[in-house]
Amino acid sequence: MDLLNSSEEMAAWAKAEGLKGHRIGFVPTMGFLHTGHVSLMERLRPRVDRLVVSIYVNPLQFGPNEDLDRYPRDPEGDSKKCRDAGVDALFMPPELYPDGFSTAVTVDRLTDGLCGASRPGHLDGVTTVVARLLNLVRCDEACFGEKDFQQLMVIRRMVRDLAIPVQIVPGPLVRDADGLALSSRNKYLSTADRAKGLTLHRALFAMREAEAAGEKRARVLLAIGQASLDVDVLDYLELVDAETLTAIEHVDRPARALVAAKVGNTRLIDNVAIGPELSWT
Ligand code: PAF
Repeated sequence: MDLLNSSEEMAAWAKAEGLKGHRIGFVPTMGFLHTGHVSLMERLRPRVDRLVVSIYVNPLQFGPNEDLDRYPRDPEGDSKKCRDAGVDALFMPPELYPDGFSTAVTVDRLTDGLCGASRPGHLDGVTTVVARLLNLVRCDEACFGEKDFQQLMVIRRMVRDLAIPVQIVPGPLVRDADGLALSSRNKYLSTADRAKGLTLHRALFAMREAEAAGEKRARVLLAIGQASLDVDVLDYLELVDAETLTAIEHVDRPARALVAAKVGNTRLIDNVAIGPELSWT
């Protein structure tokens, strides 16, 4: 596995692989890798000739009172996991942006609600870093997890709008045996916090079961979800059109139930598909 520590090294590597005619797959991450990240690597590995993973904790996507300084890091463990997953190049730059970096990439509308509303600037930070990463890695396919569903939809929109020549491949959300959606931030949870965190997926699955049993009214489904939640601060529980991310009144198209909440000092998010299946093409 090649270790690449600067944007210049990454760009040179990608150019050389492109000249050899290799198809490149890319999994961008912020490190502290878990089974969910590895599942994204495994999803791309058979589809491409070369697999790249990046690890960069992107300051642009953290708010002033968020956990940038204490975001968990484990470069050695991460390198081993990448090597074991058959990664060809690990791009782990100490700094990613050039001096005087002054550009921001914003996707309108899809970023108005959900995490876009509760974490101002967060999704702009994500699209800005992902645009730069995609240009450096020059990949044919990039995989983003459905755990960050709004992020996935926003990146998909950005790639279409800016005609970035990459296919965005969604990676299914991975859960621990108890149902908690895998996240690097789960490491912060005490046993009591974790018990509260488990109510996120219980609420979402209660909504999904009720819909499958015939309840289509969003108002009723949200009340069912709300009744299962036990968290310290509920940020949002919403039922939205899976494409536009706007609230719906009835489940009459592909929909997503999404939740974000704080347990202790940790912010958790989760989501499930509800209703007809979303077409990813
Ligand atoms: O999902 C993440 O880990 C990050 O938001 C990403 C896509 C790597 C951008 O920093």
